[in-house]
Amino acid sequence: MLNLVLFGPPGAGKGTQSQKLIEKFGLIHLSTGDLLRAEKAQGTELGLEAKKLMDEGKLVPDAVVIGMISNKLDANKDAKGFIFDGFPRTVAQAEALDDLLSSKESAISGMIALQVTDEELEHRLLLRGESSGRPDDANLEVIRKRIKVYNDETAPVAGFYQSQNKYTSINGIGTVEEIFDAIITVIETY
Ligand code: AP5
Repeated sequence: MLNLVLFGPPGAGKGTQSQKLIEKFGLIHLSTGDLLRAEKAQGTELGLEAKKLMDEGKLVPDAVVIGMISNKLDANKDAKGFIFDGFPRTVAQAEALDDLLSSKESAISGMIALQVTDEELEHRLLLRGESSGRPDDANLEVIRKRIKVYNDETAPVAGFYQSQNKYTSINGIGTVEEIFDAIITVIETY
Protein backbone atom coordinates (compact mmCIF):
# COMPACT_ATOMS: atom_id res chain seq x y z
CA MET A 1 0.00 0.00 0.00
CA LEU A 2 1.32 3.46 -0.92
CA ASN A 3 0.42 6.10 1.67
CA LEU A 4 2.02 9.40 0.79
CA VAL A 5 2.04 12.66 2.73
CA LEU A 6 2.48 15.52 0.27
CA PHE A 7 3.77 18.41 2.32
CA GLY A 8 4.55 22.07 1.81
CA PRO A 9 3.35 25.60 2.45
CA PRO A 10 0.19 27.13 0.92
CA GLY A 11 0.61 27.28 -2.85
CA ALA A 12 3.50 24.80 -2.95
CA GLY A 13 1.67 22.64 -5.50
CA LYS A 14 0.31 19.84 -3.28
CA GLY A 15 -3.11 19.79 -4.94
CA THR A 16 -1.66 20.04 -8.46
CA GLN A 17 0.72 17.12 -7.92
CA SER A 18 -1.93 15.08 -6.08
CA GLN A 19 -4.12 15.13 -9.19
CA LYS A 20 -1.31 13.68 -11.29
CA LEU A 21 -0.43 11.07 -8.66
CA ILE A 22 -3.99 9.77 -8.36
CA GLU A 23 -4.10 9.34 -12.15
CA LYS A 24 -0.83 7.38 -12.16
CA PHE A 25 -1.28 5.22 -9.07
CA GLY A 26 -5.06 5.04 -8.58
CA LEU A 27 -4.79 6.34 -5.02
CA ILE A 28 -7.49 8.07 -2.98
CA HIS A 29 -6.82 11.81 -2.59
CA LEU A 30 -7.58 13.08 0.92
CA SER A 31 -7.30 16.87 1.04
CA THR A 32 -8.59 18.30 4.31
CA GLY A 33 -8.81 21.73 2.63
CA ASP A 34 -11.10 20.30 -0.09
CA LEU A 35 -13.17 18.41 2.51
CA LEU A 36 -13.60 21.58 4.59
CA ARG A 37 -14.50 23.67 1.53
CA ALA A 38 -17.15 21.06 0.64
CA GLU A 39 -18.60 21.37 4.17
CA LYS A 40 -18.61 25.16 3.78
CA ALA A 41 -20.35 24.95 0.40
CA GLN A 42 -23.03 22.65 1.85
CA GLY A 43 -23.51 25.02 4.78
CA THR A 44 -23.12 22.26 7.38
CA GLU A 45 -22.55 23.13 11.02
CA LEU A 46 -18.93 22.01 10.70
CA GLY A 47 -18.51 24.10 7.53
CA LEU A 48 -19.91 27.20 9.19
CA GLU A 49 -17.58 26.71 12.17
CA ALA A 50 -14.57 26.25 9.89
CA LYS A 51 -15.38 29.17 7.57
CA LYS A 52 -14.16 32.00 9.77
CA LEU A 53 -10.90 30.24 10.66
CA MET A 54 -10.19 29.30 7.03
CA ASP A 55 -10.98 32.76 5.69
CA GLU A 56 -8.54 34.24 8.23
CA GLY A 57 -5.83 31.71 7.32
CA LYS A 58 -5.93 29.96 10.71
CA LEU A 59 -6.03 26.21 11.36
CA VAL A 60 -9.26 24.36 12.08
CA PRO A 61 -9.13 22.37 15.39
CA ASP A 62 -7.25 19.06 15.26
CA ALA A 63 -10.27 17.02 16.41
CA VAL A 64 -12.34 18.23 13.45
CA VAL A 65 -9.85 17.27 10.75
CA ILE A 66 -8.80 14.02 12.44
CA GLY A 67 -12.48 13.02 12.56
CA MET A 68 -12.89 13.76 8.85
CA ILE A 69 -9.82 11.71 7.92
CA SER A 70 -10.91 8.82 10.14
CA ASN A 71 -14.29 8.72 8.38
CA LYS A 72 -12.65 8.75 4.95
CA LEU A 73 -10.26 5.92 5.85
CA ASP A 74 -13.21 3.84 7.07
CA ALA A 75 -15.16 4.61 3.90
CA ASN A 76 -12.31 3.49 1.62
CA LYS A 77 -11.28 0.16 3.15
CA ASP A 78 -10.31 -1.37 -0.22
CA ALA A 79 -8.15 1.55 -1.38
CA LYS A 80 -4.74 0.87 -2.92
CA GLY A 81 -3.43 3.73 -0.86
CA PHE A 82 -3.90 7.39 0.01
CA ILE A 83 -2.38 10.76 -0.74
CA PHE A 84 -2.66 13.03 2.27
CA ASP A 85 -2.69 16.65 1.06
CA GLY A 86 -2.77 19.41 3.67
CA PHE A 87 -2.89 16.81 6.45
CA PRO A 88 -1.25 16.29 8.90
CA ARG A 89 -0.69 19.99 9.69
CA THR A 90 0.25 19.63 13.36
CA VAL A 91 2.31 17.04 15.23
CA ALA A 92 -0.89 15.97 17.05
CA GLN A 93 -2.50 15.26 13.66
CA ALA A 94 0.58 13.28 12.56
CA GLU A 95 0.43 11.15 15.72
CA ALA A 96 -3.31 10.56 15.23
CA LEU A 97 -2.73 9.53 11.60
CA ASP A 98 -0.10 6.98 12.64
CA ASP A 99 -2.58 5.54 15.16
CA LEU A 100 -5.43 5.42 12.62
CA LEU A 101 -3.26 3.66 10.03
CA SER A 102 -1.69 1.22 12.47
CA SER A 103 -5.18 0.19 13.65
CA LYS A 104 -5.67 -0.85 10.00
CA GLU A 105 -2.26 -2.60 9.90
CA SER A 106 -0.96 0.10 7.60
CA ALA A 107 1.52 3.00 7.81
CA ILE A 108 2.78 6.09 6.04
CA SER A 109 5.24 5.17 3.26
CA GLY A 110 6.85 8.60 3.22
CA MET A 111 6.49 12.35 3.30
CA ILE A 112 7.57 14.41 0.27
CA ALA A 113 8.02 18.11 1.04
CA LEU A 114 7.85 20.69 -1.76
CA GLN A 115 10.26 23.59 -1.16
CA VAL A 116 9.11 26.92 -2.61
CA THR A 117 10.20 30.47 -1.72
CA ASP A 118 7.73 32.80 -0.01
CA GLU A 119 7.88 35.19 -3.00
CA GLU A 120 6.83 32.41 -5.40
CA LEU A 121 4.03 31.25 -3.04
CA GLU A 122 2.63 34.77 -2.81
CA HIS A 123 2.80 35.17 -6.59
CA ARG A 124 1.00 31.85 -7.25
CA LEU A 125 -1.75 32.42 -4.69
CA LEU A 126 -2.49 36.00 -5.70
CA LEU A 127 -2.73 34.83 -9.31
CA ARG A 128 -5.10 31.99 -8.38
CA GLY A 129 -7.15 34.34 -6.16
CA GLU A 130 -8.00 36.44 -9.19
CA SER A 131 -9.99 33.59 -10.72
CA SER A 132 -10.77 31.00 -8.02
CA GLY A 133 -12.74 33.16 -5.62
CA ARG A 134 -11.03 31.42 -2.65
CA PRO A 135 -11.39 33.98 0.15
CA ASP A 136 -8.05 32.92 1.64
CA ASP A 137 -6.27 33.82 -1.63
CA ALA A 138 -7.95 37.22 -1.86
CA ASN A 139 -5.23 39.42 -0.41
CA LEU A 140 -1.59 39.40 0.58
CA GLU A 141 -2.37 39.86 4.27
CA VAL A 142 -4.25 36.54 4.53
CA ILE A 143 -1.72 34.76 2.29
CA ARG A 144 1.12 35.92 4.57
CA LYS A 145 -0.88 34.81 7.63
CA ARG A 146 -1.24 31.32 6.09
CA ILE A 147 2.51 31.16 5.43
CA LYS A 148 3.22 32.26 9.03
CA VAL A 149 0.81 29.63 10.43
CA TYR A 150 2.58 27.06 8.25
CA ASN A 151 6.02 28.08 9.59
CA ASP A 152 4.86 28.23 13.23
CA GLU A 153 2.49 25.26 13.49
CA THR A 154 2.95 22.97 10.49
CA ALA A 155 6.68 22.98 9.65
CA PRO A 156 7.47 20.91 12.83
CA VAL A 157 5.55 17.99 11.27
CA ALA A 158 8.56 17.49 8.96
CA GLY A 159 10.65 16.60 12.02
CA PHE A 160 8.09 13.98 13.03
CA TYR A 161 8.67 12.10 9.74
CA GLN A 162 12.43 12.83 9.71
CA SER A 163 12.69 10.99 13.03
CA GLN A 164 11.06 7.99 11.32
CA ASN A 165 13.41 8.25 8.28
CA LYS A 166 10.40 8.91 6.07
CA TYR A 167 11.14 12.48 4.96
CA THR A 168 12.36 13.69 1.56
CA SER A 169 12.53 17.30 0.44
CA ILE A 170 12.43 18.30 -3.23
CA ASN A 171 12.54 21.55 -5.18
CA GLY A 172 8.95 22.72 -5.77
CA ILE A 173 9.94 25.38 -8.30
CA GLY A 174 9.96 24.34 -11.94
CA THR A 175 7.40 23.00 -14.37
CA VAL A 176 4.62 20.77 -13.04
CA GLU A 177 6.12 17.88 -15.06
CA GLU A 178 9.63 18.39 -13.66
CA ILE A 179 8.31 18.33 -10.11
CA PHE A 180 6.13 15.29 -10.83
CA ASP A 181 9.18 13.40 -12.18
CA ALA A 182 11.10 14.25 -8.98
CA ILE A 183 8.21 12.92 -6.87
CA ILE A 184 8.07 9.68 -8.87
CA THR A 185 11.83 9.20 -8.38
CA VAL A 186 11.30 9.40 -4.60
CA ILE A 187 8.28 7.07 -4.63
CA GLU A 188 10.34 4.47 -6.51
CA THR A 189 12.64 4.26 -3.48
CA TYR A 190 9.78 3.22 -1.13
P1 AP5 B 1 -5.68 23.87 1.99
O1 AP5 B 1 -6.77 23.75 1.03
O2 AP5 B 1 -4.92 22.65 2.37
O3 AP5 B 1 -4.75 25.01 1.43
P2 AP5 B 1 -3.18 25.21 1.44
O4 AP5 B 1 -2.32 24.29 2.20
O5 AP5 B 1 -3.08 26.63 1.82
O6 AP5 B 1 -2.81 24.80 0.02
P3 AP5 B 1 -3.30 25.35 -1.34
O7 AP5 B 1 -4.45 24.58 -1.85
O8 AP5 B 1 -3.44 26.84 -1.32
O9 AP5 B 1 -1.97 25.07 -2.15
P4 AP5 B 1 -1.34 23.72 -2.73
O10 AP5 B 1 -0.02 23.45 -2.09
O11 AP5 B 1 -2.32 22.60 -2.79
O12 AP5 B 1 -1.01 24.24 -4.19
P5 AP5 B 1 -1.87 24.11 -5.52
O13 AP5 B 1 -1.52 22.84 -6.23
O14 AP5 B 1 -3.29 24.39 -5.23
O15 AP5 B 1 -6.19 24.53 3.37
C1 AP5 B 1 -7.02 25.67 3.39
C2 AP5 B 1 -7.42 25.98 4.83
O16 AP5 B 1 -8.19 24.89 5.37
C3 AP5 B 1 -6.26 26.15 5.83
O17 AP5 B 1 -5.74 27.47 5.80
C4 AP5 B 1 -6.96 25.81 7.15
O18 AP5 B 1 -7.76 26.87 7.59
C5 AP5 B 1 -7.89 24.67 6.75
N1 AP5 B 1 -7.24 23.34 6.87
C6 AP5 B 1 -6.99 22.49 5.86
N2 AP5 B 1 -6.40 21.36 6.30
C7 AP5 B 1 -6.28 21.52 7.66
C8 AP5 B 1 -5.71 20.71 8.67
N3 AP5 B 1 -5.15 19.51 8.40
N4 AP5 B 1 -5.73 21.18 9.93
C9 AP5 B 1 -6.29 22.38 10.22
N5 AP5 B 1 -6.85 23.21 9.30
C10 AP5 B 1 -6.83 22.78 8.02
O19 AP5 B 1 -1.19 25.30 -6.36
C11 AP5 B 1 -1.35 26.66 -6.00
C12 AP5 B 1 -1.34 27.50 -7.27
O20 AP5 B 1 -0.05 27.40 -7.88
C13 AP5 B 1 -2.35 27.02 -8.33
O21 AP5 B 1 -2.90 28.14 -8.98
C14 AP5 B 1 -1.50 26.18 -9.28
O22 AP5 B 1 -2.01 26.16 -10.59
C15 AP5 B 1 -0.15 26.87 -9.20
N6 AP5 B 1 0.97 25.95 -9.39
C16 AP5 B 1 1.07 24.66 -8.96
N7 AP5 B 1 2.25 24.15 -9.31
C17 AP5 B 1 2.94 25.13 -9.97
C18 AP5 B 1 4.21 25.21 -10.55
N8 AP5 B 1 5.06 24.17 -10.55
N9 AP5 B 1 4.61 26.39 -11.12
C19 AP5 B 1 3.77 27.46 -11.13
N10 AP5 B 1 2.52 27.45 -10.59
C20 AP5 B 1 2.11 26.29 -10.01
